[in-house]
Amino acid sequence: MGNVFVLDHPLIQHKLTYIRNKNTGTKEFRELVDEVAMLMAFEITRDLPLEEVDVDTPVMNAKAKILAGKKIGLVPILRAGLGMVDGMRKLIPAAKVGHVGLYRDPETLQPVEYYIKLPSDIEERELIVIDPMLATGGSANDAIHSLKKRGAKNIRLMCLVAAPEGVEVIKKEHPDVDIYLAALDEGLDDHGYIVPGLGDAGDRLFGTK
Ligand code: URA
Repeated sequence: MGNVFVLDHPLIQHKLTYIRNKNTGTKEFRELVDEVAMLMAFEITRDLPLEEVDVDTPVMNAKAKILAGKKIGLVPILRAGLGMVDGMRKLIPAAKVGHVGLYRDPETLQPVEYYIKLPSDIEERELIVIDPMLATGGSANDAIHSLKKRGAKNIRLMCLVAAPEGVEVIKKEHPDVDIYLAALDEGLDDHGYIVPGLGDAGDRLFGTK
């Protein structure tokens, strides 16, 4: 069964509180999401394998560690996922970035895939799917199914805020996927918004309404 990690680092929790605040404007919201994404990247990559190399310091030759060449792929779900990509890339600059575009059909509430573009070698990569708001889990579930269908083998899911309903869907459908959250909230309201949540992440990131 996939693990659920709530990243309760004080800096993440502090910044998330400002992100939640309805009086936080677009510019500050975007900057804070970027910072939280960077901090989350630090935690999500904690288990990446290392290998030993020789390094000549100014003082002597030493054995030291570097990443053992595990290739990372970031896959933001459009459009809110885009808000976390730059923060992640500050720490993982070599990561390739794929994109998945999904929207929720207002009638059926089912996700519809309208865009997908991925690195050609996704089966070799450790993919981090980025879906800031894991509400019903429909979009993330569908995106992960799409990636698996195209050969992805190692997938992690990164969200800013999740509802228990969404977490349950991913755990059931994708028991191999570890989930990383900044917060696990109470649930969903009648409109599918996470409560207490932070509102519509895409609108708040891009200043639309
Ligand atoms: N998507 C959002 O942006 N916010 C929610 O609360 C739920 C889904």
